[in-house]
Amino acid sequence: MDTRILDHPHGYGLVSRGFHWLMALLLLWQLISAALHFTLDDTAIADFFFGFHFSNGVLLLSLTILRGLWGLLNLTRRPPHRRAIERLATLGHVLMYALLIAVPTVALIRAYGGDRPFSALGMELFAGQATEIEWMTDLGGQWHGLLGWLLFALIAGHIAMAWVHTRLWKEPLLRRMTRGSDRA
Ligand code: HEM
Repeated sequence: MDTRILDHPHGYGLVSRGFHWLMALLLLWQLISAALHFTLDDTAIADFFFGFHFSNGVLLLSLTILRGLWGLLNLTRRPPHRRAIERLATLGHVLMYALLIAVPTVALIRAYGGDRPFSALGMELFAGQATEIEWMTDLGGQWHGLLGWLLFALIAGHIAMAWVHTRLWKEPLLRRMTRGSDRA
């Protein structure tokens, strides 16, 4: 186990690994709550999981911003991505970041423009408008779910590629994010 704090050319440090696996866990919750909302809306199990969807989403947005800043600080230290396939991977990672910002942000804009109070993480964030701001509620209504499913599809591709690299191509890339180094 590599215990360096900062990232380096052979792997990710403790902070980057912490962000990655904590967010993976929270996104799994978000996936389960979204899937239950889609298939079993108004059942006790969907209410339980979806009950944390707002707070979990706000937490994910905050973590994405912090993780992005940490990533920028470590950009030149990270394992290089020079081959064509690695550049494609970088594009996928940037797209996931963009969606991790856009998906909760459009939901928050919808909540701000709505006429009901909105609370997350135990705080009332918006009091609710006297009259709904239609473009804001429409924006979330049209894009939140759609972009959310797109994000989950990209994450599925990301997991599949991690498996392909490790199992089929025998490249120990996953170790950079688990043990912190691709060196045996
Ligand atoms: C990264 C964070 C988030 C992800 C990945 C995510 C994902 C999703 C997905 C995929 C759906 C569609 C479920 C369906 O088709 O029935 C959904 C629904 C919903 N989400 Fe989120 N969400 C996130 C954050 C948030 C936040 C922060 C809020 C509140 C401000 C929120 C509020 C809602 C609401 C009200 C719905 C039901 C209405 C709709 O489908 O748009 N979500 N979410």
